[in-house]
Amino acid sequence: MNQQTMPITRNISFSYREYSNPQELTPEDRELVAIAKEAAKNAYAPYSGFRVGAVVRLESGRTIAGTNVENAAFPSGICAERTALTYSISNFPDDKPETMAIAAMNEEGLTPECVSPCGNCRQVIAEEELRTGKKIRIILTGEKKIMVIETVNHILPLQFSRANLRPNLPL
Ligand code: THU
Repeated sequence: MNQQTMPITRNISFSYREYSNPQELTPEDRELVAIAKEAAKNAYAPYSGFRVGAVVRLESGRTIAGTNVENAAFPSGICAERTALTYSISNFPDDKPETMAIAAMNEEGLTPECVSPCGNCRQVIAEEELRTGKKIRIILTGEKKIMVIETVNHILPLQFSRANLRPNLPL
């Protein structure tokens, strides 16, 4: 008779910091949150009415903001996080992103709840962490609270990456 073995149960968990107001953040993080909120106003989101602003602070201190840009052909639209990151990679490839802040507005103004990057954006942020070898802190802002996550790996566990394709692929 076949001996049935018990599967191993593993657990993945992570810690993040939660703040109730931007005044509790460092001046640098506070500035980044303000830039993300300001950027959201520039979003082109006539279809969803959901305007998102994202900003990355690079190692040099330079900040690059982006917004979501929608399109009548819906899948042609892009999220704010990828707008900001693709610009920074294209123009400052050696200046590594350290922190990203994200804010969103609906028809009533800034969202009370934090908005977290979509799966597509998490995947792109993860690739950028691998490319640069540097963790990207993510600050999610809502009017009720602010969450600070230390690395995208925490919100994209078990990710598919270059290591799955070709472990020795040069960067
Ligand atoms: N969106 C972002 O730009 N970032 C997010 O983190 C979530 C969603 C955009 C995509 C689309 O233009 C609109 O918000 C509604 O999904």
